[in-house]
Amino acid sequence: MGGARVSTPDAAATPAPLVDRFGRVHRDLRISLTDRCSLRCTYCMPAEGVPWLPGSTMLSTDELVRIAAVGVAQGITEIRLTGGEPLLRPDVVDVVRRMAALTGPGGSPEISLTTNALRLPALAAPLRDAGLARVNISIDTLDRERFAALTRRDRLHDTLAGIAAADSVGFSPIKLNAVAMRGVNDDELVDLVRFAVDRGYQMRFIEQMPLDAGHTWDRSAMVTQREVLDALRAAFTLTEVPGRGSAPAELWYVDGGPATVGVIASVTAPFCGSCDRVRLTADGQLRSCLFARTETDLRTLLREGADDDALAAAVRACITGKKPGHDIDDPSFLQPDRPMSAIGG
Ligand code: 5AD
Ligand code: SF4
Repeated sequence: MGGARVSTPDAAATPAPLVDRFGRVHRDLRISLTDRCSLRCTYCMPAEGVPWLPGSTMLSTDELVRIAAVGVAQGITEIRLTGGEPLLRPDVVDVVRRMAALTGPGGSPEISLTTNALRLPALAAPLRDAGLARVNISIDTLDRERFAALTRRDRLHDTLAGIAAADSVGFSPIKLNAVAMRGVNDDELVDLVRFAVDRGYQMRFIEQMPLDAGHTWDRSAMVTQREVLDALRAAFTLTEVPGRGSAPAELWYVDGGPATVGVIASVTAPFCGSCDRVRLTADGQLRSCLFARTETDLRTLLREGADDDALAAAVRACITGKKPGHDIDDPSFLQPDRPMSAIGG
């Protein structure tokens, strides 16, 4: 009935997806709530920490929620809160509640959090009540002395208590992340999987990326996905789980399942071709990639009074400029100036 020429009010109100030049549709917004951290993992920060972002440049909670709302209106359906350590933000429960209440063409976003778990004993229940859907917890070792050496804080006990707290308030699935490191924890990979499988969690190993503040990353020292799998196969039968989608982790069933283990092979098997992620730093810079060399300054736009359309246009321009991949393995690769703690995992 000639309907093709008539646009319904709904169609007119629904914006085009956040698509880049390579056809990748962006649905996942990662927001760093602070660059501060309560640990000092050697692969991330020097002992004395890094020069913190000045307070005046940090986005207020109203500003964070405003940018998140623009993203959700443009098609973002998943928001991951990161840091630094996101639970160090004093009003993190409020941030979760306000972000979970946003709505867009895809409904309300799913809110998740990546944390070192130290504050979860106090915050797990209020976060769950506020609408947090999932938590990813970083734990690189189960050995107290190693943990203290690696994070420069003797707090393995608190991380373990945080994991238990997340479990007891019903977060599911609980994903545990470890950066696999030669001579540091590469003899513990099987133990970490056992720890997770015994409790119904999912263990995931991450290849170390060149994102440390000290720029000390060394390709030859990195533990590869292949090495992780070889180590695990000595103890378990692994069978690949099909249907990865845009997820960074490739998954294997452990001894036939249902437990799974994941490997995030950012360096040796990059997953940039299906990337649906865009990142907002705690000081209001939008980055189309962890390794981007440029940022879109949403903070200045916001503080100069930009309306939602102008902010949406800036978000779209940032995504349009996204490169096909990170080229970590290319000799011309340049590490981003910001360390991971200032970008957000
Ligand atoms: N390479 C890989 N993973 C890293 N993480 C922090 N720095 C690096 C790096 N250089 C991890 C943390 C945490 C997640 C947010 O990213 O351990 O699990
Ligand atoms: Fe996405 Fe960049 Fe990570 Fe590749 S390196 S997966 S493009 S964020």
